[in-house]
Amino acid sequence: MTPIPIVRTVAGLRAAIADWRALGLRVALVPTMGALHEGHLSLVRIGLSRADRVVASIFVNPTQFAPHEDLAAYPRDEAGDAAKLAGAGCHLLFAPAVSEIYRPGAATVVTVSGVSEPLDGEVRPGHFAGVATVVAKLLNQARPDVAVFGEKDYQQLQVIRRLAIDLDLGVEIIGAPTARADDGLALSSRNVYLSAEERGRAPQLAAALADAVGVLRAGARVETAEASARARLIAAGFGRIDYLEVRDAVDLSRLGPGPLSPERAARILAAVQLGRARLIDNMAV
Ligand code: PAJ
Repeated sequence: MTPIPIVRTVAGLRAAIADWRALGLRVALVPTMGALHEGHLSLVRIGLSRADRVVASIFVNPTQFAPHEDLAAYPRDEAGDAAKLAGAGCHLLFAPAVSEIYRPGAATVVTVSGVSEPLDGEVRPGHFAGVATVVAKLLNQARPDVAVFGEKDYQQLQVIRRLAIDLDLGVEIIGAPTARADDGLALSSRNVYLSAEERGRAPQLAAALADAVGVLRAGARVETAEASARARLIAAGFGRIDYLEVRDAVDLSRLGPGPLSPERAARILAAVQLGRARLIDNMAV
């Protein structure tokens, strides 16, 4: 297998993309923080189906981690990631150093109000400003035709859709379905933090959300479905539940109390601690 070319500077990225543009090729961007798994590779494949060339980026973005979070411990394996990307047919890897992305004196921050405020916005203050800033920069550096993001991080996806519209980035944002293990657990780079015993219990998060979707579709009240899903997680020995809520699928505003209206698309989203890992998951209702 031919190794994937790696560029580490914005100038190198732009030069490679300019060569493709000169040939009239369409370009897709798949931003990641590395430690790649099948979920990331599914985004690359969607990129390949929507463009002629796919660029993946690997950048563990320090500004989206709070001081007490896992920036230093975040899993890193650039050589392994490069091989996986090459195997998936990705054309170029952009893997910049922190100093290439945040230059001395950097003072501009992108904040998206509304959709970034509840849920993870409340639990992880500053997180979505870090995400929005780096994604705005990556989209501006690569200027792709399309960019692919996972529904696994559903609130992030909605924040990025909003920012691409508001900043006139002229890129189509594609949402990709969540890739799951056979037992239903959403694939995540952070699943490596789970012990074998915790990994055995982890699929109960997806199972609890799927059950809640079932009862909501059958007409259950939002608050009842949320409470029974929470109770199930507590019974299964999960730790702190940061949130488990049914929300509007577009702007993530609160829904309920009472049964859902069939006219409004809803999403159930949860973040819960299991051992050292903070698991997030969500499903369409
Ligand atoms: P990271 O967690 O590495 O995820 C990169 C992309 O892969 C995101 O769009 C994420 O939603 C998607 N992804 C992760 N797990 C997935 C799964 N199981 N199925 C489908 N897609 C999945 O999200 C980030 O990095 C960062 O916040 C980033 C957007 C790169 C900005 O720094």
